[in-house]
Amino acid sequence: MNRLYNALQLKRLYQLKQLGFDYVPLVEKRSGASKALPNDLERLEKMVSECMLCALGKTRTKAVFGEGDPHASLMFVGEGPGAQEDMSGRPFVGRAGELLTKMIENAIEVPRQSVYIANIVKCRPPNNRVPTPEEAYTCLPYLMKQIELIAPRVIVALGATAYHYLTGDKSGITKVRGEVIDRGDYLLVPTYHPSYLLRNPSAKKEVYQDLLKIKRLLCENC
Ligand code: URA
Repeated sequence: MNRLYNALQLKRLYQLKQLGFDYVPLVEKRSGASKALPNDLERLEKMVSECMLCALGKTRTKAVFGEGDPHASLMFVGEGPGAQEDMSGRPFVGRAGELLTKMIENAIEVPRQSVYIANIVKCRPPNNRVPTPEEAYTCLPYLMKQIELIAPRVIVALGATAYHYLTGDKSGITKVRGEVIDRGDYLLVPTYHPSYLLRNPSAKKEVYQDLLKIKRLLCENC
């Protein structure tokens, strides 16, 4: 899968940059780069739980791999674990998580367990700061592999960080929110992050429209 290959290459470049390199010669693309990561979620989760590839590994309590139906047609991607997620090892269990659960169950009208929920980074950035590009690109291959294995039809990018690292596009979330972007393997719908909605409840009506659109996308041909 090309995106996974690219994410792995970016991770390697960030690691080399940290070591002081500012130039590396072009390396021939080998086939099967995705074989570097396990082809099942259980082994991938174990790998993530032991990961020390970036500094977040030193400060986390638990890595937050993601959870939900491994065959889900709908996947949500957030930014990174917060304090409660770091303690419990589960994604979106704090206040933002309660709101996300309501969004899934009341607007899309499916149980939370029937979707899959993950994040751009698997370990909590201290003080809930935005993950650095190095942290995000180091962790991205894990998410790419999850996407490959789960193969959802629709992915919802929750907020600017998720949208940016899933697409490489730095457009603001306000500009792209509600768009349906065909990514080849799946449809991507960016919307506001539930934490943003907790601070700006008036934006909930726009997100509700996005969720109805997502529900329609999922129901096409069902
Ligand atoms: N915010 C996120 O982006 N992810 C979580 O898991 C929790 C809060």
